[in-house]
Amino acid sequence: MHFPEACDFVVFGGTGDLALRKLLPALYHCDLEGRLPADTRVIAVSRSELDDDGYRAEARAALAEHVAAEFQDLAAVERLLERVHYVTVDVQDPGSWQPLFDTLKDRENADEAVRVFYLSVAPSLFGPICHELGVNGFAEAPARVVVEKPIGTDLASAKAVNNTISEFFDESQIFRIDHYLGKESVQNLLVTRFANTFLEPLWNSHSIDHVQITVAETLGTGNRAGYYDRSGAMRDMVQNHLLQLLCLVAMEPPIEIGGGREDVRDEKLKVLQALKPMTPADVDRDTVRGRYTSGWVAGKPVEGYVEELGHESMTETFVAIKAEVQNWRWAGVPFYLRTGKRLDRRVSEIVVVFKNAPYDPFRQREGVTEPNRLTIRVQPEEGMQIHLNAKEPGPGGYRLKPVSLDLSYANAFDKRSPDAYERLLMDVIRGNMTLFMRRDEVEAAWAWCEPILKHWESAALTPKSYPAGSAGPTASFTLIERDGRSWQES
Ligand code: BG6
Repeated sequence: MHFPEACDFVVFGGTGDLALRKLLPALYHCDLEGRLPADTRVIAVSRSELDDDGYRAEARAALAEHVAAEFQDLAAVERLLERVHYVTVDVQDPGSWQPLFDTLKDRENADEAVRVFYLSVAPSLFGPICHELGVNGFAEAPARVVVEKPIGTDLASAKAVNNTISEFFDESQIFRIDHYLGKESVQNLLVTRFANTFLEPLWNSHSIDHVQITVAETLGTGNRAGYYDRSGAMRDMVQNHLLQLLCLVAMEPPIEIGGGREDVRDEKLKVLQALKPMTPADVDRDTVRGRYTSGWVAGKPVEGYVEELGHESMTETFVAIKAEVQNWRWAGVPFYLRTGKRLDRRVSEIVVVFKNAPYDPFRQREGVTEPNRLTIRVQPEEGMQIHLNAKEPGPGGYRLKPVSLDLSYANAFDKRSPDAYERLLMDVIRGNMTLFMRRDEVEAAWAWCEPILKHWESAALTPKSYPAGSAGPTASFTLIERDGRSWQES
């Protein structure tokens, strides 16, 4: 891993939503803070007939919209835009690629510049793009290719996508983004676990009763209805983001984090491989699919999923699952996962619920002793809470009350919390693969999800309804409450 002096950051799908909304603002912040290699060019590629100036105008508007007002610096915007170039290519037409190749060669030390090819396009185009780059000699290291999900829709198609890319790029050149891994609080989970001593002795089935992972959204499917209807919450969120969070909670301590080593990815893979495979009976008992009907979100009426979509559909917008990691550390500890759209709040958090004290010397008193909990808040306000029992002040005996130790990152650090893409793009440029998903991880995640998806498909049951703006289908509460537990709302 080294920090290059020159970089060509090529974005296929340069006029698309991700490029304008996330990638350019992230590059802007990196440039503003002097983190980009001095000699960096950003080369946007798409089919649209535009020139540099036309694209720069679009990019300028996108930065004005997507960079927070307090970080808008017109000089810095123009400095970034000077780095930006635009090339029209129809990636499926080999005859249209020459201008891109000419642009890539048209710089000083063209062979030393790190080339990053960010494929912000439909997966069906990964093949043609990698092929053209490969046969024309642009896939040699230190070239890197970046892809986002969906990497397949099941194990076989994920393997096919991976094979296509691997034909021209070595695994050490392939950066598969799961943007949750770029979130500050998600990385902080690694620090919390592995740079402190107080948790580790408790971090196992002796002390932990269960773990809850919730990623709740208030938004619907927006302008991605077509993609979403083919995916559903399981493929869109569980296969990647939720399982990655689960991995970080459950993994064994790595030897080293970063440093060009594979320890973190090796340990995450072991967790995925330890997930208990589900039989059809397990799927019936331990999973819930839901779909929102019309309701109210943030005081506004919203349509149900099917009305928004305009046709019947069997796609789920909510999933709850009781999973199990079958290894020495976690045997018998349920991991309850849930995610959904159009819920009552936007929150992503991990709650680790500890076991009850083995004996309660306060049992004569009023009130109940709540189990200790550690809540790791990924968003919206990043932070951590430890829930404890305390004595309520007063002379009247032991009246116990749950209280919490609150750590808010915003208060602890007087610093902007960067967007996930800023960290991830810089890691691509540096060649640091720790926060990217390796091929075997993606495939192991699909291998676990597949029996669930297959059983849902063959059972052909309509997902359970929940009104938009609610906390999800009743069955998701039953899933956990039948075990004598309940979802923790912080
Ligand atoms: C994306 C999903 O990967 O993550 C979206 O495709 C989802 O459906 C989004 O809305 C959630 O990301 P975040 O960062 O807003 O929690």
